[in-house]
This record gives sequence, structure tokens and C-alpha cells, in this order.
Amino acid sequence: AATTRYEAETSPAVCTGTIDSDWTGYSGSGFCNATNSTSGYAQFTVNAAAAGTATLNIRFANGTSAARPASLAVNGTTVQTPSFETTGAWTTWATKTLTVTLNAGSNTIRLTPTTSGGLPNVDYAEA
Ligand code: GCU
Repeated sequence: AATTRYEAETSPAVCTGTIDSDWTGYSGSGFCNATNSTSGYAQFTVNAAAAGTATLNIRFANGTSAARPASLAVNGTTVQTPSFETTGAWTTWATKTLTVTLNAGSNTIRLTPTTSGGLPNVDYAEA
């Protein structure tokens, strides 16, 4: 089960964009509104007690009518390409549950959009 929450607005997380709080419903003090280009990303540093598969939850909102596809890199290697579907409104948050393989200890998880539409707004990761 995913156990620890890592807020997108809290270092060592990195948001190449702005930390915003204009849409309600987020956890913590805000969310990552990454720049809408393929150079904008949201990165988390997550800790795993042991090496192996782990559940990764990403909480997000996508208020547009189109899905926002992304690559998900673990420790610098792209391992999957989750697509963040519309949630209908920027104030409606959803959780995407993924399975990733982590090293014991610290791991970086980076979401990078694969189109210029950018990422959804990203609230937190849990792993
Ligand atoms: C709007 C919205 C932002 C969102 C952006 C986007 O500007 O207010 O929160 O990040 O659209 O399209 O990504």
C-alpha cells in the first residue's frame, strides 16, 4: 500500500512552473502547475523501505476536455507513459494509481508531459 505522502509544493519535490493555490481541493498548501510544454515537469523524491514493486498514487486535476499524457521516469529512466484523463474541472481532483519498481532508499520520480499541452495540475504523490 502507498504509505507516505509527498506534496508537490514541498522540497525536495521540484515543480518547473508555479506552485498555485487558486483551485480548491488540494492537499497541503498548493499544487504544481508545471509549465505547459514538454520541458515542464513535476518531480518527487520518494523513499522505499525495500527494493521492489511499490504502489504510486498521483493526485491530479485536469480541467480541460483532453487527456494529458506524460512519461514517468524512475531514477532517470522512463518506465511508463501514464495519461491523465480529464477530471472535468480544475477543482476536481482524482488519484491515478500506478505500480513502479523502486530501489531501497531514495528514488526520484519525474512526470514530464509528452505533448505541449503539459501536465495536469499535480497535488501530491504517495508511495
Ligand atoms: C489554467 C488553470 C491552471 C492550469 C492551466 C493548464 O490556466 O488555471 O491551473 O494549470 O490552465 O492548462 O495547465
